[in-house]
Amino acid sequence: MTRALALVLLLAGCEPGPRSFEAPLVLGGASVPAERLNLGEVVYMQRCRGCHGQHGRGDGQYASSMQPRPADLTSGEYPRLGATGGALPTDAQLRDAIVRGVDGTNMGPQPLTGEPLEAVIAYVKTLAPVWREPR
Ligand code: HEC
Repeated sequence: MTRALALVLLLAGCEPGPRSFEAPLVLGGASVPAERLNLGEVVYMQRCRGCHGQHGRGDGQYASSMQPRPADLTSGEYPRLGATGGALPTDAQLRDAIVRGVDGTNMGPQPLTGEPLEAVIAYVKTLAPVWREPR
């Protein structure tokens, strides 16, 4: 994370405290640096947790009033992105869903670009074990 961004997050009061990731992870066959995953976690907790839940199970604090319910991001299935049965979505498909929102659901466009956007895409992959399988 750049120092400026760290400062912004700190001032916004959303520093999550201890960093969850200390080493790179291979996700969907690509190595992702810990720094990117830690930023992704901050962004997720700020922008996605309320709906998708602390651990991505689709059980955030606002979830029960929604129809359809927020996606369970631990399942490794992404029906809205056309990725089911073990097929994984591309980063472009994930980016699209986040930036444009998901039609016909409560998930509106998320105001993310640049590194915070790429970081939350990477972090979402840590929620589902399927991304850690060898590709
Ligand atoms: C206002 C609630 C809300 C917020 C905020 C939200 N989502 Fe969603 N999300 C949903 C709902 C509802 C769906 C659609 C679930 C369905 O169609 O079964 C969804 C679907 C998705 C999908 C597609 C899953 C699939 O089944 O194909 C992804 C990926 C996703 N969200 C990631 C994110 C990420 C990452 C963030 C934060 C940057 C985020 N969402 C923020 C409610 C939300």
